[in-house]
Amino acid sequence: MTRRQLLQWVLHSSWLAFVGIAAGRLFQRNDLVRLQSRKVRVCTLDQLKTSSSGGAQANVGGRQIFVRVEGEDIRALDLRCTHGNCTVRLVHNPEERFICPCHGGMFSIDGSVITGPPRKPLAEIPVRLEGNDVFVLDLS
Ligand code: FES
Repeated sequence: MTRRQLLQWVLHSSWLAFVGIAAGRLFQRNDLVRLQSRKVRVCTLDQLKTSSSGGAQANVGGRQIFVRVEGEDIRALDLRCTHGNCTVRLVHNPEERFICPCHGGMFSIDGSVITGPPRKPLAEIPVRLEGNDVFVLDLS
């Protein structure tokens, strides 16, 4: 390899490395924008803590969700019944639980099954606290 060929090889390699790094940063930024656009603000932490039902219900991308404080954690449940996708309802009497209007399935407030026909608990949705604002990821 001549000195001239070596110099050309180094220049081409540097150029390719530069293009690769720039493309990588561009894709990273697009992923970040996509992630940012998919999160939905549901309520504030103060609203959750002072809610009489101990949580907040919201519509996120056409789905009903329920967000509540559990100890130090904030948890969000997808309110679609895991038996047949009917939307479960929160009832307070005699204690808080979710009841499915379609076939009578019951879930506890943490989403676990109390009585069938559902076998799986309500699905959890990722939650993120930013300052006092509670966000969930829009999975629709
Ligand atoms: S759809 Fe909920 S119990 Fe069947």
